[in-house]
Amino acid sequence: MKFKRTHMAGNLRKEDIGNEVVLMGWVSNIRNLGSLIFIDLRDTTGISQIVIREEDKDNYEIAKKISKEYVIETKGVIRERESKNPDIPTGDIEVIASEIYILDQADTPPIYIKDDDNVSENMRLKYRYLDIRKPEVQKRLKIRAKVVKTMRDYMYDNHFIEVETPFLTKPTPEGARDYLVPSRVNKGKFFALPQSPQLMKQLLMIGGMDRYYQIVKCFRDEDLRANRQPEFTQLDMEMSFVDQEDVINMNEGLLKVLFDKFTDYDLKLPIDRIDYQQAMTKYGSDKPDLRFGFEIKDISNAFKDTEFKVFKDNLGENRSIRAINFNNQASNYSRKQISKLEDFVKDYGLKGLSFIKFVDGEIQSSIKKFLDEKTLDEIKEILEVKDNDLVLIAADKNKIVLEGLGALRRKVAKDQNAYEKDYALCWVVNFPMFEYSEEEDRYVSQHHPFTKPVDEDVKYLKENPEIVRTNAYDIVINGEEMGGGSVRINNSKLQKQVFEALKLTQEDIEKKFGFFIEALKYGTPPHAGIAYGLDRLIMLFAKTDNIKDIIAFPKTQSATCPLTQAPSLVEENVLEELAINVNEPISKE
Ligand code: AMO
Repeated sequence: MKFKRTHMAGNLRKEDIGNEVVLMGWVSNIRNLGSLIFIDLRDTTGISQIVIREEDKDNYEIAKKISKEYVIETKGVIRERESKNPDIPTGDIEVIASEIYILDQADTPPIYIKDDDNVSENMRLKYRYLDIRKPEVQKRLKIRAKVVKTMRDYMYDNHFIEVETPFLTKPTPEGARDYLVPSRVNKGKFFALPQSPQLMKQLLMIGGMDRYYQIVKCFRDEDLRANRQPEFTQLDMEMSFVDQEDVINMNEGLLKVLFDKFTDYDLKLPIDRIDYQQAMTKYGSDKPDLRFGFEIKDISNAFKDTEFKVFKDNLGENRSIRAINFNNQASNYSRKQISKLEDFVKDYGLKGLSFIKFVDGEIQSSIKKFLDEKTLDEIKEILEVKDNDLVLIAADKNKIVLEGLGALRRKVAKDQNAYEKDYALCWVVNFPMFEYSEEEDRYVSQHHPFTKPVDEDVKYLKENPEIVRTNAYDIVINGEEMGGGSVRINNSKLQKQVFEALKLTQEDIEKKFGFFIEALKYGTPPHAGIAYGLDRLIMLFAKTDNIKDIIAFPKTQSATCPLTQAPSLVEENVLEELAINVNEPISKE
């Protein structure tokens, strides 16, 4: 470099006219008009137009050699443009180059460096460093940095202490598979990368740290989706001598600061709370999207004497007939489109949907002959039906009906853009401690096994685990689980009882959690905490529904990195050193 950079390209304005500046950056575009060459010079703040005149012979010769994505430095004086460009903030000015130098040449990039390049995701990730040159990608990464800074400030102001916890550790049960790291020194043994710092943060409370937080990577080997990555970031926190209310209050304060700073939504506190059971029956989900209505209602009673076999067969225990009134949607759904919705709910285990359309005082329905006046009146009353409403009905086991209709309400809202507000937040509270896993044929934790059961329910742990409630809470925003936490067990005997309810053997308890049960014996303060999916919060503030957009180097859906080709095979001698015997790998790549 010949000079020191004096200004950033995107910050220059009319007020700078007459000043001499030194800019450095990439050539976003270059146009040779014969007597003049125009270069759009891009840096992280934006673009400025550089003008090289033919009469400045040396500069002109250099400029003629320049192509897109060359890295250059230029010195020049700022002048008002003759033809202004209202589309960019620097569109009033240009820089008349007095000197220009090439700092590095560039091959033709394999992807276009512009926001709407239409290139495949795989190519974008393979050349992520080029993708990151795009203004939109940089904007999102900057939002991320600002959100993190805002969080750190809030935590610091509230006397939380940032403590780092290890990545090479023992498995922490959060419901996913672990990423394992072999130990060379202790052959045949493995570390697990933490699914969360849950145990460590509890140990910090036992250690008397009082208020801990960390912005920390977590690792989970699970099926990936648009909102899941194998390594993701949490804002993780824990507090001593507090109850559920204290944690919720502290976090509402944080959410208010974040919403004020990163949205134009005036978040009103306190945030609504909804019971887990209510969320499940009204919205078919423990993360209800409350930006729209479309509530699920039980209409079994309206059909108690029905001759319609499908409904009749679903009037028994644990079964029901439920419906959603999709207000004002009748004209948006033809029979054909309704049958597409039926196909959609089949993925959730429902066998089909019945419909009733209310059009100009008449009804159109797939079950018309079973709808006598009384039944219809009852349905109208329960669902508060008006003209142009579409009622969709499902009958099956409760769990299937609720899940299916829950998914259906989200789909219709999305397809019809039926959102009544931009943001809807709620705390989901009063979770059950356990849920039954058909797969494992045992009860598993709804949150994790360190969550404290409600005092008066402890007596049911052994005989009746399904009715045990907890002080656990999730923060849900726009139908997305943004964070979850709970009051923790602070007593080793109770912790053991919970492990036993989970059908862990004494040997398992000792092997996996012996160190933790022991730690709980030496004076454990009552404590509680929460962790946010930081990436998900940033998705919300950056207004994107793809988690990869807000992570610098994300993994693909199949948990690979197209840029580095990780994960990759390792040399035979490395495996030997680790005492690992790999069966013939499926892929030789
Ligand atoms: P939990 O498992 O609910 O709780 O995780 C907290 C939050 O992390 C986010 N999250 C993810 N984000 C992206 N990709 C993933 N694979 C992923 N998995 C989870 C979610 C979730 O709400 N130790 C407890 C917290 C506590 O009890 O304090 C925990 O980790 O937004």
